Formats: sequence, structure tokens, C-alpha cells
Amino acid sequence: MQRIAVLTSGGDAPGMNAAIRAVVRSADARGLDVYGVQRGYEGLIEGRLSYLSARRVSGILHLGGTMLGSARSEQFRSIEGRAHAIEHLQEQEIEGLVVIGGDGSFRGADALSRESDIAVVGVPGTIDNDISGCDYTLGFDTAVNTALDAIDRIRDTAASHQRAFFIEVMGRSSGWIAVYSAIAGGATEVLVPERDTNIDELSKRIRQAFEMGKGFCLIVVAEGDDAGGAFGVAKKLGTQLTGLSHRVTTLGHVQRGGAPSMRDRILAAKLGDAAVTALLDGHDRIMVGEVHRDVIHTPLEQACTVGDKTPQDILDLMGRLAR
Ligand code: F6P
Repeated sequence: MQRIAVLTSGGDAPGMNAAIRAVVRSADARGLDVYGVQRGYEGLIEGRLSYLSARRVSGILHLGGTMLGSARSEQFRSIEGRAHAIEHLQEQEIEGLVVIGGDGSFRGADALSRESDIAVVGVPGTIDNDISGCDYTLGFDTAVNTALDAIDRIRDTAASHQRAFFIEVMGRSSGWIAVYSAIAGGATEVLVPERDTNIDELSKRIRQAFEMGKGFCLIVVAEGDDAGGAFGVAKKLGTQLTGLSHRVTTLGHVQRGGAPSMRDRILAAKLGDAAVTALLDGHDRIMVGEVHRDVIHTPLEQACTVGDKTPQDILDLMGRLAR
């Protein structure tokens, strides 16, 4: 293998730049040329590839976002769209592709490899941490720390005004960000997509918390919670909140940006390097992920179908500590 390409796809995540850098530098160290693809699969369909030298990726390690840009591509879902992408890769004599993204991106990568002779390796990059085959995805640690910083600030004002706060964090189908930021932020309640929300029970628990002497109450809500996110929950509680001062805050895309944490930078370095090694060792249609500090390989097919749900033991821990 002489020439590989790298792209970032789906929702951006802090640490993607560090992973691009690791792919380019690790490939350079082994005599491989790397091409960067602009705007994920959209750019691949349009043939937007350019050579990335080791110097070209200087000064990006600590930056959020992705220097290559990202997109959620509708066109790439079709075999015709992927055929254009394959054509452009073949024109540049690219034999291996590193895809940094989430489950949707891996589905695309898996299909591209089946329809061509190009080997693909995935690097899990999404703030949601909802991919099986790794302990953590790139960007999760930074996103939780960002949410936590906001929660700490909200706690100050919630305590001053003896208020209940409904704080919405990201996570359309997974509650990882919600439960980690709730535990680390000392929240009273966490609502996640993996568990049905009982509004009457929730209202009872919030009232009890104040009756038991709590001066304020933080309720962290994942955006994909079945009760409809933080505004939805507050609305459904309606009159059950009468007499309790409360406010709603949505953190939104703030969680996607910012400098990657130390953990995300190290993870990016390990996985970017491991992706190049995997391609050189002849692997195809796999994802590299870190489990208990070891890098393991998981078939892409599995990584993109078996979502990693928030574990019950973490939810139970939250339940025991929130008194
Ligand atoms: O990348 C994951 C994620 O941030 C989810 O947590 C969120 O539901 C979604 O992306 C938002 O996507 P978009 O930026 O396209 O609105």
C-alpha cells in the first residue's frame, strides 16, 4: 500500500483534528502518502481530495472541529453516489481509506469497501459515545467536560434562587453525555432515551428533594428523552411544578466545539496510528477502538449496528448518589 486517504464524517467532535494529524504523521513515518477529503462523503463524491504533508497538519492538534470539514451525505447512501466516490479514489490510486465518524459514517464506509477494492478502517469519532467496540469515542470526554462546566455555573444560580433547573444535553438516542455529566455535576435526576420517563414520579421526586431540604435541584435531560427534551419535560410537568421556581437551559452545539481534552488527544493519537497500522497489516472493514487501554478491532458491520447504550450500572450509581 502506497497511498491512503482520510475523511471526517457526520457530526464533528473535538479530537477529530488530532486524529487526522495522527493518521498523516503515522503514515508519513512509514512512507505512505495521505490525501485529505474535504467535507466527508460529499467531498469524496465531488472529488475534493488533496495531498496532506506532515507539515500541513501542524498546529491543528489542539483545535476543535475538523480541518477537513464534515457533512451528513444523502447522496452517499445510494450506490450511484458511492460509485462516483470510488471513481475519484481510484483516479488518485488510493488503496486505503480512514473514516473518522460515527455509526452512519461506518455504514457508508462498509458499503464503499464492499463495492470496490479499497480497504476501509473506521475511527470512532462522535460526542455521543454510542458505538460498540470501544470504551470511549473521540469527543465524548471533551463534550462532557463542556457540559459539566455549564452545569457548575447553573448550580451557582440555581442555589442562589432555590430553583429547579432542567438542563438539556446532546444525545438523540443515547444518554451517555447526560448520565456522565449528571453524576459528575451532582444532579438530582437524569432522563435518558434508554429509559421511559414517568412524569408523575419525576414530579414527586423533585418535590421530595426540596422537602428533604435540598436548596436547589438539577435535572439533566438528554435531547432524545421520550418526554421531549428539557422544554418538553418542563411543559409536561406543568401545574405539578406550581409553587416551585424553575428554568430550562439547552446546551446544544456548545458541546460539539472547543479544544479537545487530554484524554481525547491521546485517544486520537492512538487510534489514528492504529488505523494506519491496520491498513498496512491488510485489515479491511474494521473499526479500531480502545478497550481497557488496548486497541482492538471490531467489524464495521457490528460497530454500526450494535449501538452502545448507557449501561444500567451507571444509571444505578446515579440513582444511589442523588439524594
Ligand atoms: O454528533 C452527534 C450529535 O451531536 C448528537 O448528539 C445530536 O443529536 C446531533 O449530532 C445533532 O446533529 P446536527 O448537528 O446535524 O444538528
